[in-house]
Amino acid sequence: MTTEFTLSQIRDRVDEQWDHAVDLLKQKIALKSVSALGITADHMKESAEFVANELAALGVDTRVVQSTNPDGTPGAWEVVGSRIVDAAAPTVLLYAHHDVQPVPDASAWDTDPFVGTEKDDRLYGRGAADDGGGIAIHAGALGALGDELGVNIRVFFEGEEEMGSESFIPFITAHRDDFEADVIIVADSGNWSESVPSLTTSLRGNADMDVSLRVLKHPVHSGQFGGPVLDANTVAAMLIASMYDASGNLIVEGLDSQEPVGGLQQDLDEATYRRDSSAVDGLVLAGSGTLASRLWVKPSVTVIGFDAHPVEGSFNVLADSTRFRLSLRTAPSQDPVEALDALKAFLTAHVPFGAEISFANEDAGKGWAMDASSAVVHEAERAMGEAFDTEPINKGEGGSIPFIPELQKLFPSAKVLVTGPEDPKANAHSPNESISLPGLKKNIVTEALLLARLPHISLD
Ligand code: BES
Ligand code: MN
Repeated sequence: MTTEFTLSQIRDRVDEQWDHAVDLLKQKIALKSVSALGITADHMKESAEFVANELAALGVDTRVVQSTNPDGTPGAWEVVGSRIVDAAAPTVLLYAHHDVQPVPDASAWDTDPFVGTEKDDRLYGRGAADDGGGIAIHAGALGALGDELGVNIRVFFEGEEEMGSESFIPFITAHRDDFEADVIIVADSGNWSESVPSLTTSLRGNADMDVSLRVLKHPVHSGQFGGPVLDANTVAAMLIASMYDASGNLIVEGLDSQEPVGGLQQDLDEATYRRDSSAVDGLVLAGSGTLASRLWVKPSVTVIGFDAHPVEGSFNVLADSTRFRLSLRTAPSQDPVEALDALKAFLTAHVPFGAEISFANEDAGKGWAMDASSAVVHEAERAMGEAFDTEPINKGEGGSIPFIPELQKLFPSAKVLVTGPEDPKANAHSPNESISLPGLKKNIVTEALLLARLPHISLD
């Protein structure tokens, strides 16, 4: 009893609603839904309510629900809802997150980060892509299908993804029925480029921890005592450097590497990678193997915070202690807790000069790998190929979406598709974040086509 749509019918419907899609994104950007400024705060509740109202206008029965953290304290403002059209039809869960990254320095932007600004086929603003784009894709696809929707829809638009989804497990446990689905579409990743679509075949895991080092019981005069005692910052630099060989390969035993999931369809182009990452001229790239494997399926460690005296106002004192925060990206299939244990064992065994070492604030989120053989994956690739008028090139992703494996654990037979609005120019988490508007339109057409076809394919 479901309507068969042609590509051009879907395109026409998306065109008709296009102004609304762009306007939705601009309104979403203006809401400044920065979860780092308070997951439970009013601005996050308003953001959730805005998204819930948009979905309600599309016939989705929505609720804004505050989650509860594992320690019992109030958590994020989540949007859940459903539109059940036929109990016998397949059910699709649409995921995006409504929180955005902070803007630590608005002067680094060419436009106001919280005013959606169109320039050269792109819309600039914080959260324009990550993950306002995901919301716009789902809303656009539902809007295009309108009353002819042939699948049941559930939605979960999360309010704390950028903060590590602390309350996610208690939330899905308490609201299991709201998540029950045959297919889950996670629109929080992206395409090969604005004109070449991709499914994301894998995501790395992410584990964080703080490492503290102490060499003295208190700071001392660096002339009087410096020499026989190395300051804590220097010892930390040596310890950090010991994780790598001379080419920049990590040499920490127990950190796994793997092969690209589903095979490597195409390696990343080095010149493009250099440009998109904004590498300075002459920068030597670290590690060995294909660029794709280094980014998607090998581990990496980043120092994301470092406590040292600021240069401004520094004086001749020998630092007694220091602390730094490491972010470890793991191979998609490695247990991040096991990986973190391996890293701790390595650091403990390699602390130079007998400094005291301790670890704190450990946090671990799992990676994920797609089942490339499912019929839903083939159908999604077909829809992408038609909507973009070019064959998709699937890719892994170096970033992490740790709730996916948790959801997959609860619903093992659900087919997860990771799609999304980003492309290499999106600058997610950075100044001048943007979304490709032609890319967004094709993403909406893709999702609408896929939703229209799902009732006709096998979901086993
Ligand atoms: N959308 C990103 C994940 C991503 C990044 C997908 C780049 C595709 C390309 C997501 O919002 C994100 O940033 N996740 C965090 C998770 C962390 C807080 C556990 C990440 O990867 O740092
Ligand atoms: Mn995201």
